[in-house]
Amino acid sequence: MRRRVTPANPHFLAIGGQPAVAQLAERFYHHMDTLEEARGIRALHPPDLGPIQELFARFLVEWLGGPPLYSSERGHPRLRRRHLPFPIGARERDAWMLCMRTALAEVVPDAALRAQLEAAFFRTADFMRNQPAPAGG
Ligand code: HEM
Repeated sequence: MRRRVTPANPHFLAIGGQPAVAQLAERFYHHMDTLEEARGIRALHPPDLGPIQELFARFLVEWLGGPPLYSSERGHPRLRRRHLPFPIGARERDAWMLCMRTALAEVVPDAALRAQLEAAFFRTADFMRNQPAPAGG
């Protein structure tokens, strides 16, 4: 029986590998930097988005099933804990998702793959919420 040496990484390969992931990170932070709806979450970030764009691209390569470019440098992601310093409620989650959906529409032409990625990003963004939902909503 042949053993598989590399783990299955369908999303990383399907999206187009590292160049596509780098492009996704670039478009994502471009939208965060320019969309009116993202002004609130933009303000949570430092003036220069360059370093986080690089780090996010490395995270995404790994999250999508590519090589461990993030954890080899930063250790376990512990994403929820790393986001605790920032107030994230439904509004911030939705603004983040708007930037990501807009970026995905530009970088991932395959509608089925895009829908899968949107769902996975939403689950992660929703998990990042650390503020109570507003009363009545
Ligand atoms: C839900 C709304 C979210 C907000 C408002 C938000 C905001 C932030 C902020 C302000 C930082 C710090 C940036 C810096 O230090 O320069 C950060 C870091 C990061 N975020 Fe988010 N984020 C959100 C969701 C997500 C999601 C869904 C993911 C992954 C799919 C993600 C992945 C990351 C990563 C990998 C880092 C760097 C962590 C590290 O320091 O190693 N974020 N985020």
